[in-house]
Amino acid sequence: MSRNVFYGRSLTVIEDFSIDERRYFFKKVRQLKDAILAGDEKTLDSFRINDPDFGIYEVFLEDSTRTKESFRNAAKFHHAKVSELMCSSSSINKGESYADTFNMLSGYSNTIFIVRSKVEGLCRYLDEQSRDYTNRNSLPVKPAFINAGDGKHEHPTQELLDEFTFLEDNGMDFSNLHVALVGDLYHGRTVHSKADGLKVFDHVRVDLIAPAELAMPDSYVEKMKENGFEVRSFSSIEEYLKNPDIATKWYFTRPQLERMGERILQKQAELRSSITFRKEFMPLLKEGTKFYHPLPRHKEHPTIPTFLDNTPLNAWERQAINGMYCRIVLLGLIAGSIGEDYDGPVKPEDRSITDEEYIVSVDLSARKDTGKVKNYSEGVHPIDNGIVIDHICKGDSPSEIRAHMRLISSVLGIDEGRGGEWISRGSDGKYKGIIFRPGDYELTRKDLKRLAAVAPHCTLNIIRNGKVEAKFRTHMPPRIYNFDDLCCTNDACVSHPGQGENVSAMFIRTPDGHYACAYCGRFHSYKEIWNRRG
Ligand code: NCD
Repeated sequence: MSRNVFYGRSLTVIEDFSIDERRYFFKKVRQLKDAILAGDEKTLDSFRINDPDFGIYEVFLEDSTRTKESFRNAAKFHHAKVSELMCSSSSINKGESYADTFNMLSGYSNTIFIVRSKVEGLCRYLDEQSRDYTNRNSLPVKPAFINAGDGKHEHPTQELLDEFTFLEDNGMDFSNLHVALVGDLYHGRTVHSKADGLKVFDHVRVDLIAPAELAMPDSYVEKMKENGFEVRSFSSIEEYLKNPDIATKWYFTRPQLERMGERILQKQAELRSSITFRKEFMPLLKEGTKFYHPLPRHKEHPTIPTFLDNTPLNAWERQAINGMYCRIVLLGLIAGSIGEDYDGPVKPEDRSITDEEYIVSVDLSARKDTGKVKNYSEGVHPIDNGIVIDHICKGDSPSEIRAHMRLISSVLGIDEGRGGEWISRGSDGKYKGIIFRPGDYELTRKDLKRLAAVAPHCTLNIIRNGKVEAKFRTHMPPRIYNFDDLCCTNDACVSHPGQGENVSAMFIRTPDGHYACAYCGRFHSYKEIWNRRG
C-alpha cells in the first residue's frame, strides 16, 4: 500500500490540511461521487482500503446521528472494522483521563479515532500525547484522530462536506463564494470552522445573520477578516432581506438550546423568530438560491420550515448525503489507499515552530551615554544594583498600567523585593509604566522568557555598580508554553484546570498580536493568559 502525505494524518481542525490538500480532497470526492452514481465498480475499488487490520473507533461523548452513521457507513464501504466505545458505561465515568482511555484503545490496534466531545481541543491533545504512547509501547502505527465536533470549537469534517456541496453548486469553481450564515452563530461549531475553512475559495463574502445573543464571537469574525473575507452583519433575516445584495447560498444552523444559559433560553421564541425562514420571504430571494443546514433541524421549530422540502431551495438533503462520500475519501486518504498522486504543498507538522528571537540584547558599547544611570532611582537614591523594566504598556491608561505592573511583578516573582512602580507620561502624551527593583537579581533564560511573555515591547535594564551592564528589548514570543501558571480562559478547553486532564496550556501568537490557545483556539491578549486565581 502506498504511503502518501495524507497517510496517518489527524484532522483536529480544518487548518490541519493545507488549502491545496483540501482542494485535492474535493476533486477526489467528485470522482468518487461520479463513480457511485455511475456504478463504476472499478473506480470505486481504487478508493477502497481493503485492509482487514484497518479499523475505526467511534467515541461519541455527545449525541450524533449523521456524523457517526456516515462514518460507520463510510468504513463499511472500505470493508474496515468499526468499533464503538459505549461512553455512558465506560471508565471515563470512573474518573479516568481521556489520555488513559484513548491510549489504551490504541493499544488494541485501532487506526483512526473519530471523537466527538464537549471538551474543546480534545483531539489535538490526544493526537499529541498518543505519539509518546506509541513510542513507549512500540506500537506499529500511531493512531490518527478525527475531530467529529468539540464543543463550540470546530467540526472539520462537516466543514469539508459543506464546502463540497457549495462547490457542487458552483460547478467546482474555487474562485468565488458569497454565503449567508444564519442562526446560532455563537454556539455553532460548524460555522466556526468556516472562519478558516472557506479559505479554499479565492474570494469570500460572508453575511452573518443572528441576533446579538447568538452573534458570531469576535475572534472568529476577526479571523475571517484576517483571512481576507468581506464580512457583514445583520440581526435578522428580515433586516438582511432589506439590503439589495443578498447571497444565493444560505447556510442555516439550529439554536443550540443545550449549550445556552437560562437567561438566553427565556428569550428563545424571540431569538428563533429572527433566524427562521418564513413564506412571505420567498419572493425576495434571488434566483438560484440554495439552502444548506448541517442538521438536525428541530421537529417543532425548524429554522428551515418543512414546506420548503420539495422546492429547489433544498440543498441540505444532498449535503447530508455528501457527508458519507466525504468521509469515505477522508478515511481512504488517512489509510493511504488514495492520495499518492497529490503533489502540492503539505501542511507543516507544527505551524508554530519558529526560531525568531524575541529577547534582543542591546549593544551598549555603541551608545554615547556610557551606560550611566541618570533616570532610575530607588526613591530618592539612584540605583546602584538592580533591575529596571521600562516602557510597560505604553499607551494604556494609568489604571491598566498599574494593574499590569502588579501582574508582571507576580509573574517574575519580584513581589517581595524593595523598590517600586511608577507611571510617567512622555512628550507624545502617552503613559508608560516602570518597575524598579534594587538588589542582586540573577535572571535566568527562563526568567527572560517569562518577562517577554508578560511584558512584551519593554526594556529590561540590568544595573551593576551604578551602570547599565546589560539591556534587553522584549518582543511578543511566537509561542508561550512550559510555564505552570499559564491558563486558557475557556473553561471548556481541555487545557483548563477545571477539566482535570492535567494538560499544560500553550498559546500561539496570531498575525494580529493575540495569543490563540493551541487547543481550543480562543484568542487572548498577553495579559489574559496567566492564572492568578490562586
Ligand atoms: C452539528 C453538530 O453536531 O455540530 N450537527 C452535525 O454534525 N451534522 C450541528 C448541530 O448539532 O446543530
